[in-house]
Amino acid sequence: MKFDMANLDRNQIHDLLLSGMAPLPVVLVSTVGKNGSYNAAPYSLVFPVCYKPPIICVSCGLRKGQKKDTARNIESAKDFVLNIMDETHLKPTVQASADYPADVDEMKEVGLTAVPCDRVKSPRVAEAQVSLECKLVQRMELGKGDAFRNIYFGEVLLAHIKDELWAGHKVEPSKLKSVGYVGNETYCRLREFFTEKASELKP
Ligand SMILES: Cc1cc2nc3c(=O)[nH]c(=O)nc-3n(C[C@H](O)[C@H](O)[C@H](O)COP(=O)(O)O)c2cc1C
Repeated sequence: MKFDMANLDRNQIHDLLLSGMAPLPVVLVSTVGKNGSYNAAPYSLVFPVCYKPPIICVSCGLRKGQKKDTARNIESAKDFVLNIMDETHLKPTVQASADYPADVDEMKEVGLTAVPCDRVKSPRVAEAQVSLECKLVQRMELGKGDAFRNIYFGEVLLAHIKDELWAGHKVEPSKLKSVGYVGNETYCRLREFFTEKASELKP
């Protein structure tokens, strides 16, 4: 099958890319509003794009033509936290995507625990396997109308990693219980690991 993107609408491209590029990460983005209220919502269009400085971008669409609470909060506080949740907390993580009013603390509503961060105003989620405190360094606009998105680039200032997951110089993958998003309200578990490396080329 071949699909010319020019012939597809926004929703068709959404379904094709999400399923074709699956799995995407499930990241609970926690932020703080202008009035100090905490907010959290799951985001999958999240990706590290640079190591030094450590930059991760988050793509945030519109809801009913308006910026989502996460977007509004990132722009006012100039920071955010990326929380990598495990499968035992998938239910509250997904529930946090419900359309709660801006002043409702989704973490409290869904039974997760907000804790203050060391370097940013946004809170982190105590239950997360990994939490990355990020400072907003750049915003980019893409798309038009319904397809409009803000892409936020955050510099990771501080990483919190559960002690039991740390393997000296990295997170031990077999200890992570991360879930992936494959689109259409469907998720997968991180389970099987194997190594594969390129063989040396003969000069
Ligand atoms: C698994 C999952 C991944 C999602 N990824 C994104 C995303 O990358 N970008 C986005 O704008 N919305 C995404 N959403 C939808 C938001 O979570 C949803 O619009 C939420 O209500 C936004 O909340 P907020 O207004 O508190 O930011 C995702 C939802 C789920 C369940």
